[in-house]
Parts: sequence; C-alpha cells; structure tokens
Amino acid sequence: MPIYAPTDENLERAAAGIKRGDIIAFPTETVYGLGADALNPAAVAKIFEAKRRPFFDPLIVHIADKEQLQQVSSETNSKIIELTERFWPGPLTLVLQKSHIIPYIVTSGLDTVACRMPDHKIAIELIERSGTPLAAPSANPFGYLSPTKAEHVLDRLGDEVDIIIDGGECRVGIESTILMISDRGYALLRPGGIPVEAIEEITGKIMINRNMTDIPSSPGQLPYHYSPETKIRIEDKIRFDEEEACFLLYRSPEGDYPKERAEILSENGDLTEAASNLFSSLHRLDKMNCSVIIAEAVPEKGPGIAIMDRLRKASKK
Ligand code: TXA
Ligand code: MG
Repeated sequence: MPIYAPTDENLERAAAGIKRGDIIAFPTETVYGLGADALNPAAVAKIFEAKRRPFFDPLIVHIADKEQLQQVSSETNSKIIELTERFWPGPLTLVLQKSHIIPYIVTSGLDTVACRMPDHKIAIELIERSGTPLAAPSANPFGYLSPTKAEHVLDRLGDEVDIIIDGGECRVGIESTILMISDRGYALLRPGGIPVEAIEEITGKIMINRNMTDIPSSPGQLPYHYSPETKIRIEDKIRFDEEEACFLLYRSPEGDYPKERAEILSENGDLTEAASNLFSSLHRLDKMNCSVIIAEAVPEKGPGIAIMDRLRKASKK
C-alpha cells in the first residue's frame, strides 16, 4: 500500500523521489496534489500520463515561500506583492508571466505560469526538502472528483504513484481560486478556496473569464470537470420521493429523510464547512450505486460560488 505517514524519514524518501524525477502525491489545504519537479520536463510528463490528462491543460507550480515566486515568474508589482502578503500561504493561485526556467510542458506552451504557496506544513516540508518548486495538479484521474483524503488518491491512482503522503483530510476541501493578472487587469479563471469578494478588496472589481476572449481558457472550466461516475442533478428544493436516488444536502432538512442515502454538507448551513465536505461527500455517494445524486443548491455567495461551480460542472457530464 503506497500510503505513508508524514514522518521525517518518509518525507525524505518522497523528496529523494522528486529529485530522481518521480511523482509523489501529497496533501495541501485544498485537495491532494500529484507533484513532480517543476523544472524537470520528463518528470512533469509522468503527471500527465498518470492522470491521463491532456497536454493542453497546464499545471500549477507550488512554492515553499513567497520569495520563491521570483524563481517562477519574471513579473512583479505592488499589487502582486499585496495579494501574496494577504493570501499566501493559502488557496489563491496567481497566473503571471513565466520565467525562462519553467519548461513549457508545465504551462502547456503558454508564456504564463500558475503559482501558489500552499498553507500546509507537509506540502511546504516536501517542497523545501525537494529543493525545487513542485508542479502539481489535483491527484485524481482527469475529469474525476478531486481527492481530499489519501484514500481517495489510493482508490483511483494507487497503481500510478509510488508514494502517497498521508496528511489526513484537507481543511479547505475545494481547489484554489485562480486569478490571472495581466496588463488588461484581473480575470477570475476559477472560483475556489478564497472568495472573490476578499480578493476584490485589493484588486477592485474582477472580470470573469468569458469577458476576456483572447486569454487562454482555463481547462478547469471544461464542463465535464470534477464529475463522479453517478449522474448529478441540482435542485433548489429537495423532495425525497425518488427511491433509487441518493442526496447531497446543503444543510439538515426539517422533516424526515433517508439518512442512509444522504450526505449533509453542513448541519447548520455554514458555507465554508460545506465546501470542505463537498468532495468527500461526493466520493461516498458515488460508491453507493444510486441511479442519480440529487444535490441541493447552495446560496451563491462566498464559498458558495465555488461549490455551485463544481456542482454544475459535475452535473454536465
Ligand atoms: O488547490 C489547487 O489549486 C490544487 C492543489 C493541488 O494545489 N491544484 C489544482 O490543480 O486544482 P489542477 O491542475 O487540478 O487545476 C489547475 C487549473 C487547471 O484548470 C489549469 O487549466 C489552470 O489551473 N491553469 C494552470 N496554468 C494556467 C495558465 N498558465 N493559464 C490559465 N490557466 C492555468
Ligand atoms: Mg483538478
């Protein structure tokens, strides 16, 4: 079984693997990542193979401290510094001009690179011990639900990775917010762990991607992303009269409901808690062999924006 506790010895072993060009699954505060040395194109290619991910879908580069951004991106200005001071370490990914040392396989041929500093001790330890930034997408097969536990990685990619570092359940549970910064302003490429309203306190109003026709579309926006095998249907008001269905509930329902076929994201409707439970609940429901997962819509504010984004994509499969 390739799941390893995050001991000194195992982290050293994982870092040695990264230096040799292996791929390693590791925890972050958002979801588990599948990492390789971002400066080693052959190692990065293994990530695409393991995930069966198309080469046109670029990867996020993970760094261990804010200063390391200078290694990854040639760009800097006071707004970028303000954003990293406020939100790093944390679930904000910035898309910036890449530096020449980042190979094009990481960026799918783009001159921009996505970069973030995770807010997770084990991730930071691994990057530091590896002595290189780590290119890492979420550690799931392309198109499937993101992993928020080591077991999710083992279930779907166990044959593809030698080492999965176990950091328990991911605290945020939903991927990072992706913000592109260019001379044309700010564009939100993916809602995520940091609510867009919080970023706008620094940037002012942010454009959403569809308003900027010539920026590369972020394949995270492909409609079939984040999908369980079971079909998903989103409803505003849930009735429990479909016998073969199971239910993803935003909060505790008032009346009776089929408990053995339901997952509750947050008993009292806290959106941050709901986001953190989204993927693990969907993983559990996907194992029940129901005809359909009926998901209760959540309010679209704060973390609710990212939750609805993932549910809509999952429901379009
Ligand atoms: O929370 C997260 O962001 C997790 C953890 C592991 O850090 N990572 C993650 O990676 O969700 P991934 O590969 O599943 O999603 C990254 C998204 C992709 O949709 C990709 O298209 C977009 O980031 N992306 C990467 N580089 C880009 C670039 N240069 N321009 C536009 N989009 C980019
Ligand atoms: Mg992903």
